[in-house]
Amino acid sequence: MPLLEIKNLTLELATADGRVRVLDGLSLSIARGETLCLVGESGCGKSLTALSIARLVPSPPARYAGQILLEGQDVLAMSPRELRRIRGRVVSYVFQDPGAALNPVLKVGTQIMEMLKLHRPEKASETEVIRLLKLVGIPAPEQRVDNYPFQLSGGMQQRVMLAIALAAEPALLVADEPTTALDVTVQAQILELLRALKHQLGMAILLITHNLGIVGEVADRVAVMYAGQIVELGPAPAVLQNPLHPYTKALKATAPQLGATRARLEPIPGAVPSLAAPPPGCRFAPRCKIARPDCSEKVPELIETLPGHWVRCPYSAP
Ligand SMILES: Nc1ncnc2c1ncn2[C@@H]1O[C@H](COP(=O)(O)OP(=O)(O)O)[C@@H](O)[C@H]1O
Ligand SMILES: [Mg+2]
Repeated sequence: MPLLEIKNLTLELATADGRVRVLDGLSLSIARGETLCLVGESGCGKSLTALSIARLVPSPPARYAGQILLEGQDVLAMSPRELRRIRGRVVSYVFQDPGAALNPVLKVGTQIMEMLKLHRPEKASETEVIRLLKLVGIPAPEQRVDNYPFQLSGGMQQRVMLAIALAAEPALLVADEPTTALDVTVQAQILELLRALKHQLGMAILLITHNLGIVGEVADRVAVMYAGQIVELGPAPAVLQNPLHPYTKALKATAPQLGATRARLEPIPGAVPSLAAPPPGCRFAPRCKIARPDCSEKVPELIETLPGHWVRCPYSAP
């Protein structure tokens, strides 16, 4: 049984323009200990996918359909009490901007301690707080416990966020653009830390990023999302080296590589469509270099083109 299995998930938000389907028939799974990277341009639905795993998008007004099985149990059918139990203990989150996520008036040690008290009260001790700070690579943790967030650099703040997320020993860590707010060097350090933690702790990771160029070091599998749908999903080496979907190819061509300085990269022409009125047929067709007239007529299905490698494009032969 996979740790997480999302089956045909649809999410509709209530907006000023009426109901908008922001996730459309999304299916993916994550095995225990596996790292899945979810990639796509801004506005494709990555964060809403992440938040859905612990049902953090309030519904109502939002409306879910499909299944989200965490350790075999359907998150969409859970009581508020069951949801509180899985949040933190089973799935824990790290977000893009640690400066905004940390409480500015509490010492970092206190913030880690609160998470311990909530989810592992038997381990709520200063020793455990220091162990966690050490685990995420914070130097001189005995002194850092008494620091306030403003006394730490952006990279160190993100390490503290990781320590808070890890305090509950989650089976799944969801990191939503965890390095986007950081400079390139620190970005590489945080990714290296994630990779080390994955091996050390054996937890599964869902790493979300708009940059296909940074996932090679950490991903076991890669899922590519466009306009609320998965368009390609497969083993990381296959998707990164031989992408099949025209969107993944375009992402690859425009992705800044980790550590590359000032590469001149043109963005993909055009923009992600509004999900209030997605294009008919293939949603990427209006921006696609190989689009044919019938691409705008029928919605392509996600097909297993190579073993374990799924592609939503009938004209993307390997
Ligand atoms: N509260 C909201 N109301 C209406 N639309 C929203 C809301 N939140 C997000 N969206 C829309 O849902 C889409 C996906 O958003 P999101 O998951 O944040 O994308 P990503 O994380 O890939 O950048 C976007 O087009 C965004 O405009
Ligand atoms: Mg996002």
